[in-house]
Amino acid sequence: SEVDIDASAYDAGDHESYMRKEILEQPTTAQAVLRGRLDDRFGTAHLGGLDMDARDLRAVRRVKILGCGSAYYVGQMGAALIEELARIPADAEAASEFRYRDPVIEPDTLYVAVSQSGETIDTLLAVQEVRRKGGRCVGLVNVVGSAIARECDGGIYLHAGPEVAVASTKALTNMFLAFALLALQLGRVRDLSIADGKRLVAGLERLPAQIEEVLAIEDDLVEVAHSLAEAQSLFFIGRVRGFPVAREGAQKFKEISYRHAEAYQTSELKHGPLALIDPGVPTVALVPHDELTERNIGALHEIAARSGPLVVVTHEEVDLGGIDARRVVVPRNEPELDPILLTIPLQLLAYHAAQHLGHDIDKPRNLAKSVTVE
Ligand code: AGP
Repeated sequence: SEVDIDASAYDAGDHESYMRKEILEQPTTAQAVLRGRLDDRFGTAHLGGLDMDARDLRAVRRVKILGCGSAYYVGQMGAALIEELARIPADAEAASEFRYRDPVIEPDTLYVAVSQSGETIDTLLAVQEVRRKGGRCVGLVNVVGSAIARECDGGIYLHAGPEVAVASTKALTNMFLAFALLALQLGRVRDLSIADGKRLVAGLERLPAQIEEVLAIEDDLVEVAHSLAEAQSLFFIGRVRGFPVAREGAQKFKEISYRHAEAYQTSELKHGPLALIDPGVPTVALVPHDELTERNIGALHEIAARSGPLVVVTHEEVDLGGIDARRVVVPRNEPELDPILLTIPLQLLAYHAAQHLGHDIDKPRNLAKSVTVE
């Protein structure tokens, strides 16, 4: 299905920037990608645009996700969802690197190209590489009728509406949700139980309202963002499901604030980056309530012991004990779907840091909305 987008009717309105408008639109745009695609009765998703029947879906033995920049990081979140729900090996790779290593294309691998614009040349050439070698490539694309959408065998339109700000927000959220739908469908033709399927459908239905709840804490984040903006260098850390969230958080921050922001797996800190922690290098840590909470808190102690300022994006249930940190609490959903709720405050932190620094938020220096030349 397609939605008609009247781009001329889309302007920043009362908002001081498109980025802020696009961040605030997310509860509505998130509904758009889910609309008509969730099946409460069988705990699955319907994705007609994929053009794959149950047999085709069952024949998939591996999933390879291709995208650039933030689309690649959300691709990593998507790979985790697919591997968890469908128990198919899945990974994401930077589309800009893919064709240069003469990749082996397997007939039973499902290739998934992810792109907001649908015009990113590196992603388009990766799709062509796959299809030239006889692979099946589907697209998760926002712009209807774009080059990547046309080049793919089928796909899932993101229905996020036009995105103007160079720093992508609402399209990324819908990429995550589209991956959740794909993972659900791949899972339900395999061993994902109907109970688990229904649990995830209910979780997806709750998400738009929970995104709204996160946006409601914006005022609490402004001062935190201003203090982060003062630092020349920052870390974003997370583990397993939280690591692509950290990568995306660092990406957003560096794109519009021009500060050096680097993402690490929390578990890797002690293998090197801990050497850089001092009072001038803040860390934004993702600490969801999950099986790794205690280990994550252990790492926070290491940072606090070196007087590293801490911002911890976490859940209500997580007790940070005596650690001196600014806590940012987001609502919980099903654990598989939590990464997207952890991502939203990082958009707001980047936004308010850049605004504090007086930068052109919608058109950051040196960057284009879509990179259409090699
Ligand atoms: C996102 O904030 C970035 N501007 C950038 O990394 C972007 O996601 C990337 O260039 C891919 O663009 P696409 O989704 O249009 O293909």
